[in-house]
Amino acid sequence: MNLLLEKTDKIRLIQEGSKLPYDLLLLADETIEAIDKYIHDSEIYIYQRESETLGVYALQMFDGESIEIKNIAVSKTCQGEGIGQRMLLNAMEQAKDRGFKYILIGTSNAAFRQLYIYQKVGFEIYEVKKDFYTKNYSQQLVENGLPLNHMLVLRKQLND
Ligand code: ACO
Repeated sequence: MNLLLEKTDKIRLIQEGSKLPYDLLLLADETIEAIDKYIHDSEIYIYQRESETLGVYALQMFDGESIEIKNIAVSKTCQGEGIGQRMLLNAMEQAKDRGFKYILIGTSNAAFRQLYIYQKVGFEIYEVKKDFYTKNYSQQLVENGLPLNHMLVLRKQLND
């Protein structure tokens, strides 16, 4: 898959106060309430093709040496074209340029495709947050026919 940005595509930081692409953010998180807990303290980048927004990712400082991708999503009709991996590479560049040592991303035990993509671009499993989904969501969430119970946190070192 070609991971270079197509000529007419851009990834850009959206300005504070801009309308947030909740339709996309909701593909990666369950509710607006859950998104609102982190989105207002995050930098939000959008993937644009001409005037159309096809993807989003949100970066939030985790601590002095790490930054976290809190949300990443690609419009359903454009998934599988490489946009997700381009945004992950872009997030790593942003984090590296700003001097962070690590970039983190969390996903569920049942999110096989996400786990595949994150490891493909160099993230490694770093921590398991046991029962994260059962403790933080009132209803049982299911993905790929499996209950979402635990969060897997993946981390990539940026100076290699
Ligand atoms: N559809 C598409 N690709 C698939 C599928 C499938 N059903 N199954 C496996 N793949 C593979 C592709 O072959 C490709 O691998 P390859 O490069 O080796 O060929 C890879 O998975 C897909 O790579 P991309 O095209 O770069 O990924 P995409 O643009 O679809 O973005 C993302 C990935 C962000 C996970 C997107 O699918 C999405 O928005 N999903 C819904 C929201 C979501 O789950 N977000 C992550 C939640 S965790 C968090 O936000 C921190």
